[in-house]
Amino acid sequence: MLLPRLGSGSGSGTTSFVGRRAELAMITTLLAKSRELTLTGPGGVGKTRLAHEFARHVARDFADGVRIVELGAVSDPDSLPRAVVMGLGPRDPLDEVVHHLREKSMLLVLDDCEHLVESCAILIGKILAAAPLVRILATSRQVLGVEGEHLLPVPPLDVTPDAVALLTDRVTAVDPDFEAGPDNRDALLAICRRLDNIPLAIELVASWFRVLVPEEILRQLDDRLHPLGDHGSTRPARQRTLVASTGWSYRLCSPAERALWARLSVFQGDFTLEAVTRITPSTQDDLLDLIAGLVDKSVLSRHADEKVARYAMLGNARQYGLHELTVSGHAAEVRKAHRDYLLGLAGGSAAAPQDNARGQGRGADRRPSGSAALTRRELEIADLLANGASNKEIAASLVISPRTAATHVRNVLRKLGFTSRVQIAGRWEHTSGSR
Ligand SMILES: Nc1ncnc2c1ncn2[C@@H]1O[C@H](COP(=O)(O)OP(=O)(O)O)[C@@H](O)[C@H]1O
Ligand SMILES: [Mg+2]
Repeated sequence: MLLPRLGSGSGSGTTSFVGRRAELAMITTLLAKSRELTLTGPGGVGKTRLAHEFARHVARDFADGVRIVELGAVSDPDSLPRAVVMGLGPRDPLDEVVHHLREKSMLLVLDDCEHLVESCAILIGKILAAAPLVRILATSRQVLGVEGEHLLPVPPLDVTPDAVALLTDRVTAVDPDFEAGPDNRDALLAICRRLDNIPLAIELVASWFRVLVPEEILRQLDDRLHPLGDHGSTRPARQRTLVASTGWSYRLCSPAERALWARLSVFQGDFTLEAVTRITPSTQDDLLDLIAGLVDKSVLSRHADEKVARYAMLGNARQYGLHELTVSGHAAEVRKAHRDYLLGLAGGSAAAPQDNARGQGRGADRRPSGSAALTRRELEIADLLANGASNKEIAASLVISPRTAATHVRNVLRKLGFTSRVQIAGRWEHTSGSR
């Protein structure tokens, strides 16, 4: 029996595993019902680690055990069957795989399939047809599209206790003197939140605790495409930095999906299809296909809502998109379109329904409920405030007197329902600044 290999990029077995009880239970349930389950989700969210952990739990339930075939390093789709054979034992191509598995009762874990989606779908289809006692647990950023496939999107960790526990654990590994306590609790929470509670991001940042204090790390993270990476690690290249991890997803997208990804990065919170039509020249029909493609590849997540679908992007995907948008030369045009859209919402006209304003979601574009509309000038002030500008800087930037600036600032905060200028940072979209 081949148990999960040690020393893989996911650190299975060599580092502690936290949380995920609900997901492990769901995998058990879904694999009992269906013979194929794909764990989907963005890079670094913990798909591989979860699959390995599940495999470890159930190895004894399958007469022929568990095999884990890691496909992350397979670059040529034609060599997929060979990679699987290598994972299974010394044999040859596709039919051999199927032949080998025909009589087996086994859980086959196919890990990191996203760049081999079509070949994996063919392979899995054949195995399911020929080997009735084999169950397959795949991990992939992109949905595989196999008949009978069930999907389980893997979410980020809960910030407490799991994300903070993971960070503490990984930091302690590199700095035995480190202690989590009341003094640094807020900073640790803020770091986890800033990293969207993505395990890979948390592990990458942990090594920086040897060099910087938590507050400095937070500031580093505020650099757009922050360079924090794992120096000298044995991870596969696509997991060595968040930029590399996101770039791996970017390469999976078609040119049209990439272009939309870049445009969508102007939204800071979640957004509706209606909002998307305002920032692209494409029609709703074209957009739906592209959005479906980005959801399939775990670049966008969809949030349930009673009336309209809302989409959101994780922070690192958004930062990547902002960079690509700048490079594309469309940044000014897209920002203007987004700004006009926000002005429409702020104007509170009948054409801007209430739930669109809400559609701007947990993040910045949302107007706190009950807030009055902002004037164009007040929108500019809100932008500057969110950028951390002082009244003096606002006055200088808009060529108005400091007293007028102070009055505007008071009005903006009151209309948005904020009691202090600190609250606006991170909760308001900059619509005109160059990011
Ligand atoms: N629940 C968890 N507990 C501890 N570490 C985790 C957990 N989930 C993920 N990790 C770590 O985070 C990193 C990224 O996880 P991984 O499973 O490789 O992500 P994915 O396969 O979704 O890209 C790995 O080093 C892994 O060990
Ligand atoms: Mg993986």
